[in-house]
Amino acid sequence: MNVRVYPNGDLAAIAAAVLIAGQVVDDPQSVLGLATGSTPLPIYRELIAMAHRGVLDFRRVVTFNLDEYVGLGPEHPCSYRRFMQENLFSQVKMREEQIHIPDGLAADPEAECRAYDAAIAEAGGLDLQLLGLGVNGHIGFNEPAPRFTTNSYCVRLSEQTRRDNRRFFAQGETMPTHALTMGIASIMQARRIVLVATGPKKAQAVRDMILGPVDPMVPASILQMHRHATVLLDSEAASLLP
Ligand code: F6R
Repeated sequence: MNVRVYPNGDLAAIAAAVLIAGQVVDDPQSVLGLATGSTPLPIYRELIAMAHRGVLDFRRVVTFNLDEYVGLGPEHPCSYRRFMQENLFSQVKMREEQIHIPDGLAADPEAECRAYDAAIAEAGGLDLQLLGLGVNGHIGFNEPAPRFTTNSYCVRLSEQTRRDNRRFFAQGETMPTHALTMGIASIMQARRIVLVATGPKKAQAVRDMILGPVDPMVPASILQMHRHATVLLDSEAASLLP
C-alpha cells in the first residue's frame, strides 16, 4: 500500500484526478472502475476541467461503477446511475455504450451481478478502480462481515451505511435496504486501486485499514494485499496515523 497524505481534501482530489488522467492518457481505451458519494465529487470536477481544456479524452474509455441501490432506476434522483450522469458522464460527453452500472431494477439481482462480472471480464478487467472509504471500513458496499466477499452480489446495507447515506435522500424518501455491489474479489482484480479518504470521520477506518490486521470486519484492510494500491488522504483522515 502506497499511502500519501495531503494538507487538504482538494489536493488529495487533484492527486487522484492526476492518477486517473495518467491512466487515460497512457491508454485512451482504459477500463475504469468508478465510485459515487461525496469523496469523488472534487475528483470528477478536476477530470471534467481537464476534458474541457482538451487535455483528456473520455471518448474511448469504458467505465464500471462499484454499486447501485436495489429498487432505484436510472431516472431516480438518488440512483447512482443518475449521480454519475450528472456529475461526470454528461459533462465529458460519454455515450451510453461506454457506461456500466448494475441495474437496480433487475428482476433477478443475482443474475444481474453475474452478468456484471462477466461484462468486466469481457472488457479485459479493470485497469484502475477508484474507491471511497465507508466510516465502517466498507469499500463498494462490502460491509463488515465474518468473511471477505468474492464476486458482485446483492447486499443488505448496514444501519451505519444507511445512516451515513441518508443525507443524499430527500425527506420522506424511503432509503433502500439493499444494493448491488462489486464484491471484494471483483475489486481486488483491478490492476490498480486508488482509494481516497478525506475528513475526520474517516480517521479510525483509515487507521484500521492501514495499520490493523487484514480483517473482513474492516473490508478495506484487504487492500494491504493488493500489489498496486495507492491511498490518498487529507490530513484529517490521516490524523490517527503515526
Ligand atoms: C460509493 C461507494 C461507497 C463510498 C463510501 C464513502 O460508490 O461504493 O463505498 O465510497 O461509502 O462515501 P463518501 O465518499 O460519501 O464518504
